[in-house]
Amino acid sequence: PSDTNIQGKKLCNYQGCWYYYKNLQAVLDYQKHFKPLDSDIIVTSYPKSGTTWLKALTVALLHRSEDGLQSHPLTSDSPHGLVPFLEMDLYHKSSTPDLTKLSSSPRLFSTHMPLHTLREPLKDSPCKIVYVCRNVKDVLVSLWHFRSKIGKKEAERSGLESIIESFCKGVDNYGPIWDHVLSYWKGSLEDPKHVLFMRYEDLKEEPYAQVMRLAEFLDCPFTEQEIRTGSVEKISDLCSLSSLSNLDINKTGISWNNVDHSIFFRKGEVDDWKNHLTTEMANKIDMIMDEKFQGSGLKM
Ligand code: A3P
Repeated sequence: PSDTNIQGKKLCNYQGCWYYYKNLQAVLDYQKHFKPLDSDIIVTSYPKSGTTWLKALTVALLHRSEDGLQSHPLTSDSPHGLVPFLEMDLYHKSSTPDLTKLSSSPRLFSTHMPLHTLREPLKDSPCKIVYVCRNVKDVLVSLWHFRSKIGKKEAERSGLESIIESFCKGVDNYGPIWDHVLSYWKGSLEDPKHVLFMRYEDLKEEPYAQVMRLAEFLDCPFTEQEIRTGSVEKISDLCSLSSLSNLDINKTGISWNNVDHSIFFRKGEVDDWKNHLTTEMANKIDMIMDEKFQGSGLKM
């Protein structure tokens, strides 16, 4: 375990992963106090990989009986409010948050912790873990835009080069990203009933198939009747970037970390990195990825 400073923030390494110092205590408290229920669902990701989207899809799948938008939970709260982060929200506010106050059933949580850290208090729990992974270069560009919007100090609004450098060294919030992705990739191969590995790019390319896949995994498959009446398409439309970002709650609300909800919706495209990274930058990342993922069967 060691400390370092990156882009004006103190980072601390715990169980092989770097955390902002302010979040580490919450990770420890989560590991010490969290008691899983068999029905829990945990949405996980590396930051900027499609967390907000996956949260919305999960909520929409579990509330698909609600006809129309009027009483839909996604219109009264943001995906981040409906699926709170364990370490950045719940255990950040209290070392023993009152989880009985959560409105959802089953309980929905989210996290950016790597799988081994997340799993410590889960023991043999049959709860479901859904991970979304995204092209590392798009994650990086998304992160850069995000930080330039939320950074309060100059150092936090760092340039792309500086983010690439810390990213490639693996010393960034929740990094190294390679280890993060691999922890869930291997977990999904070893325990496919409890860990689902999804990709942002697949969700973009074949939303229908991926929504079906998520529903099967969460033990709420679509009925013939639902399929006939377009329930799958309705869910993927409701959770599209344009639809979510146009809901009042997401246009005007403030999220758990005091930033505008709207910041979580930008372009939502595949390969936006091509508009920002030089060939040299992209090659550097590709080389590291090839080396780290070699032999794992994981293709980016
Ligand atoms: P871009 O910055 O590339 O546009 P996270 O939710 O993990 O913080 O990730 C944010 C990224 O996901 C942003 O990517 C954002 O635009 C994109 N995103 C958010 N909601 C989305 C949706 N419903 N569909 C597709 N992409 C979405």
